[in-house]
Amino acid sequence: MPRQFFVGGNFKMNGSVDTIKKIINHINDAEKDPNTEVVIAPPALYLLLAREHLKAPLEVAAQNVFDKPNGAFTGEISVDQLKDSNITWTLLGHSERRVVLQEDDQFVASKTKAALDGGIGVIFCCGETLEQRESGETVKVVTTQLAAVKEKVQDWSKIVIAYEPIWAIGTGKVASTEQAQEVHAAIREWLKKEVSEKVAEETRIIYGGSVSEKNCKDLSKQPDIDGFLVGGASLKPAFVDIINSHL
Ligand code: G3P
Repeated sequence: MPRQFFVGGNFKMNGSVDTIKKIINHINDAEKDPNTEVVIAPPALYLLLAREHLKAPLEVAAQNVFDKPNGAFTGEISVDQLKDSNITWTLLGHSERRVVLQEDDQFVASKTKAALDGGIGVIFCCGETLEQRESGETVKVVTTQLAAVKEKVQDWSKIVIAYEPIWAIGTGKVASTEQAQEVHAAIREWLKKEVSEKVAEETRIIYGGSVSEKNCKDLSKQPDIDGFLVGGASLKPAFVDIINSHL
């Protein structure tokens, strides 16, 4: 069974009511590949705006969610509040949160479990630094991040894994098709060995890190690249070309 191509747009801490409405209107009006699953992740402040304006079947994702139920956690958003707002996905473990906010593997795994237990899909981000790549630790780093999830989660059916080499994020230095395919294949092999053959076969593994309309087609042809998690380019009209890269 072929895996459905998946494209996420991570707006990060960008946009305003006006610009996000304009982006969503452009995406709504564009000709899009009906076989590609598309999820848009605006800043938390604009989740309801995105939900109101984005046309089905496109879905809205939070960029993060907390692992405890509603309560005295100032500044956080709960799984119940995402469900209450009809937000069906969340990013978790983005390198900008792991590095800047020091979110460790256990915390990201705990949030992954909480989201899944609440019926929210998880786009689980993993990836290595340039130093880790140069010292040959790439696969060890990403499989360690995934192993923390395996300790807490049994059902992987609502997880999309986003491999995002930190050295490619926001730098314009996209991973080569060979580099990306090699790590995606290693992740799939890890899933097969550590979880199950079925999960390995069915889990979408998407690539993120300087994806653009210029490089997405070649990347999309790789056997273990099932889509993209797009940052900067998701704010631009050419995001639709990335959605349609698999056509
Ligand atoms: O989550 C996607 C993001 O980290 C990639 O950013 O700007 O390199 O596409 P960018």
